[in-house]
Amino acid sequence: MDFPKKVTIVEVGPRDGLQNEKEFVATDTKVELVNRLVEAGAPKIEAASFVSPKWVPQMADATEVMQGIERNPKVVYAALTPNIRGLEGALANGVNEVVIFGAASEAFSQKNINCSIAESIERFRDVARLAKEAGVLLRASISTSFGCPYQGEVSVESVLDITKRMQDLGSDEIDIADTIGVATAAHVYEVMSKVTEIVPKERVAGHFHDTYGQALANILASMQAGISIFHSSVAGLGGCPYAKGATGNVATEDVLYMLHGMGIETGMDLDKTVQIGQWISDIIGRQNASSVGRAMIAKCATN
Ligand code: HMG
Ligand code: MG
Repeated sequence: MDFPKKVTIVEVGPRDGLQNEKEFVATDTKVELVNRLVEAGAPKIEAASFVSPKWVPQMADATEVMQGIERNPKVVYAALTPNIRGLEGALANGVNEVVIFGAASEAFSQKNINCSIAESIERFRDVARLAKEAGVLLRASISTSFGCPYQGEVSVESVLDITKRMQDLGSDEIDIADTIGVATAAHVYEVMSKVTEIVPKERVAGHFHDTYGQALANILASMQAGISIFHSSVAGLGGCPYAKGATGNVATEDVLYMLHGMGIETGMDLDKTVQIGQWISDIIGRQNASSVGRAMIAKCATN
């Protein structure tokens, strides 16, 4: 089997993980979550979202979060920026990587960002240009790459089509996202293999929600297709407010356990990540959704 020696984890817990929480999570908690994840070795963190607070109230304190965190110069702090206003907010607050986010399905594009795929690309054009001028990294996320909560099946061609358009905007990295966690391994292998025919594999990331429990298998399938960047969320927190029923991202703890067990480096500390996962789950009053996290906490308690 041909797997990478090193994988880059993009920790999305503070953004994807928390954005769907109904009760407002205190800014101090969000700041502490980011700081603790850095302490655990996360190389890249989605720390905030400069989106409309009418659309996603939980992310309304993006500025305060960015201002509150202790900055580690080795860490990439990323934030979602759907339009120029979002980009300006991100740049004013020292974000290192901005994320434009579109979809492979028309229906999801409309529900999530209130415009068609073609309109979104036009909107992103200026965001991308200004991000490049400002010298920050530009990442593009493609939702519903394996299925859509509104339209159902999504063709590989539509994923490739928006991937090309995102690449033409100058994206440094492209995330292929399973928003509702429906993908299975062969489908993932096929999509990732085709995407890497148009985007160098070092610049493609897998973003898997774990709704159907397939995310680890999908990470393995992606690695077999040459991918070595994966998004995960501590304690498996998360979901998208515009994808009803979709649960969290694959838990960072579960990904670390699998990768470290396979001898693949991540630079992250599993024990520390497990502690963070339980801490944030307790604070927001959710069951820890990481199997590895629960197992390791239970083992500690019995020893
Ligand atoms: P719109 O309503 O078409 O745009 O929303 P608008 O320009 O008419 O703005 C509406 C209001 O929001 C206005 O306020 C704007 O000023 C304000 P009002 O005049 O009514 O008082 N506004 C903003 N405020 C702060 N920051 C901004 C901003 N922009 C406008 N940047 C818009 C269009 C894109 C803004 C909206 O649809 C939006 O914010 N959507 C974000 C949805 C979102 O964040 N979804 C979750 C993240 S994506 C995700 O989770 C998927 C991912 O994880 C991958 C996967 O799993 O698939 C990445
Ligand atoms: Mg997501």
